[in-house]
Amino acid sequence: MRIHDTIAGLRSTLDALRADGARIAFVPTMGNLHEGHASLMREAARRADVVVTSVFVNRLQFGPGEDFDRYPRTMDADCARMREAGVAHVFAPDEAELYPQAQTLQVVPDPALAGLLEGAFRPGFFTGVATVVTKLFNIVQPHVAVFGKKDYQQLMVIRQLVQQLALPIDIVAGETLRAEDGLALSSRNGYLSPDERSRAVQLHQALSAARDALRAGNRDFTGIEQAATAFLEAHGWFPQYIAVRRQADLQSPAAHESSLVILAAALLGSTRLIDNLEV
Ligand code: PAJ
Repeated sequence: MRIHDTIAGLRSTLDALRADGARIAFVPTMGNLHEGHASLMREAARRADVVVTSVFVNRLQFGPGEDFDRYPRTMDADCARMREAGVAHVFAPDEAELYPQAQTLQVVPDPALAGLLEGAFRPGFFTGVATVVTKLFNIVQPHVAVFGKKDYQQLMVIRQLVQQLALPIDIVAGETLRAEDGLALSSRNGYLSPDERSRAVQLHQALSAARDALRAGNRDFTGIEQAATAFLEAHGWFPQYIAVRRQADLQSPAAHESSLVILAAALLGSTRLIDNLEV
């Protein structure tokens, strides 16, 4: 596995591979890797000859007061995990390499999608994501890129970006990996105290109960959202949104619609967790 810290170095390596006919799969990350990330890399390895990852904590997608400065940076452990997952090339630039000038040109996703849910609580977040992912796509020029359903709305924003800008990249969705108790793996789980960690599964429990209600034919979406919110509040959480939406566009469904997803964001102490379940 080779680690590249310059755009030029990575480009010349990948140009040579492409010239040899290699199919390239890309998995962008912010590091502090866990098994969820590794599962995306293994999925990438099944779909291409060469797996390229990036490890870059992207300042553009963090709001003021968010956790950019304390976001965990664990490059040595990350390298071991990537090697094990079959990664051939890691792009790990510093900020001066990726943003040598202030990144004043940004990619602004459609507010009809990016303004909802996560976008409503984290203004500018999806613009930061779309900007860095576009730039990484231009550097890596992968044939296929893998994103996790854990960040459901992010995956949809990336799909729309690729479609509307006609980028020749196949976007693949990876399933959410969970701990044994059901908590979705996340770099931010490391912020939880032992007591919070034992309660963190309640987010998945709230979503599971909502999914069970939908599967049983309950179409009172507002009532389902309110019950999940009340459950979390009763356990000391501060829910930001719990929403039953259409998978297709994250808009509110009509009663007869199927292919739904329940998405949630909630604070447990000072840690903000997100999760979702498809129905
Ligand atoms: P990061 O949070 O590091 O996540 C990298 C990728 O791993 C994303 O596609 C995310 O959805 C996926 N992922 C996270 N937890 C997962 C889990 N439990 N199971 C499966 N996949 C999981 O998402 C980002 O970084 C950034 O926004 C990025 C796209 C890299 C742009 O900066």
